[in-house]
Amino acid sequence: MDDEKIIHMDMGAMMGNATDDVRPTLCLGIESSCDETSAAIVDSNHNILSHIIYSQIPEHQKYGGVVPELAARAHILAIDDVIQQTLARANKTIDDIDVIAATAGPGLIGGVLVGWMAATGIAQSTGKPLVAVNHLEGHALVPRLSATSASGVAGDTSVDFPYLLMLASGGHCQILLVRGVGQYELIGQTLDDSAGEAFDKVAKMLGLGYPGGPIVDKRAQDGDSKAFKFPRPLCDKPGCDFSFSGIKTAARTFLDKNPAPHSDKFINDFCASFQASVVDCIVNRLNNAMNDARVRDAMPKTLVVAGGVAKNSAIRNALEKLAAKNGMIFAAPPMNLCTDNGAMIAWAGIENYRVGRVVKTPIAPRPRWPLTEL
Ligand code: KG4
Ligand code: ZN
Repeated sequence: MDDEKIIHMDMGAMMGNATDDVRPTLCLGIESSCDETSAAIVDSNHNILSHIIYSQIPEHQKYGGVVPELAARAHILAIDDVIQQTLARANKTIDDIDVIAATAGPGLIGGVLVGWMAATGIAQSTGKPLVAVNHLEGHALVPRLSATSASGVAGDTSVDFPYLLMLASGGHCQILLVRGVGQYELIGQTLDDSAGEAFDKVAKMLGLGYPGGPIVDKRAQDGDSKAFKFPRPLCDKPGCDFSFSGIKTAARTFLDKNPAPHSDKFINDFCASFQASVVDCIVNRLNNAMNDARVRDAMPKTLVVAGGVAKNSAIRNALEKLAAKNGMIFAAPPMNLCTDNGAMIAWAGIENYRVGRVVKTPIAPRPRWPLTEL
């Protein structure tokens, strides 16, 4: 494995402040469901002892997206080193670890299998408990490990159940009420593309590269969000579902009429206008979810955004304002815990272990695994 491709997380910033457990539970978490091979050791006092993310992005970039076969092969080549380095950096051996956790789905099954089999092998050979983590639950629970405000300022780390969750990643876009570990009520979801897919596809149309979300986010910061008019699908309708394919088609149609080369100003304005339509849709749908909750007298205290798209500065800022308007606390994971990472899987491992949700008989990893089926 190529050492310069490994991101060694800055642990200083990641140490939690709760020190309630005398002998904290240590969990080794493994993530391999998409294009990151990652492992982390996290303890039940909210500390990340070590965290390694081996990103395969350079390997997939020339194809404009993740190639599942290449991803699976890259996970196989990286997984042992990633796990060993994670233990070494925390100054721990496998004997010090209390729980093993790995993503068991949903995701690209070739990659999921690599991480899951590694975790199963370690658990079986050491007799340690094993947690099969739903990748989406990793995203959903990580704000309870560590949460920040929209700008990334660390705040009160206690995100208590229940909370309203905007889960927006490359593969999913859902509004959920998180009642507890393993307890998810689906409030709304996309009828077609995910928000992350929309970002990635629009970036690809503009020839900006992969993954598109961070590039569009950056270009949008210098653009005029009113320069182009994009649709706001479903926003004139009640309910909490999303549709992003209309925004994508509008982008395609407009670019067909205005082909490259494009000036920097055109690209920045286009990104800002597209992003504004995604932000408006998310705010509109969450606003409906909050109104429904209010009517049912079931308004949660906290609004949480998670998943790779939660890195988006405009979305974080808009949701912080929306939360304040509705008298809610806003929380988001720190930037490096939004996109796929092993720490979120380790934390979900700890949360599941605490409530006894461990693997008792061998299980098969699942390419599809909705949060409502936990
Ligand atoms: O959660 P994640 O790492 O992987 C999945 O589980 O899918 O999310 C990846 C997605 C990609 O679509 C990427 O473009 C998007 O998150 N993303 C962003 C930003 N950073 C990553 N989207 C918008 N703005 C960003 N700053
Ligand atoms: Zn993810």
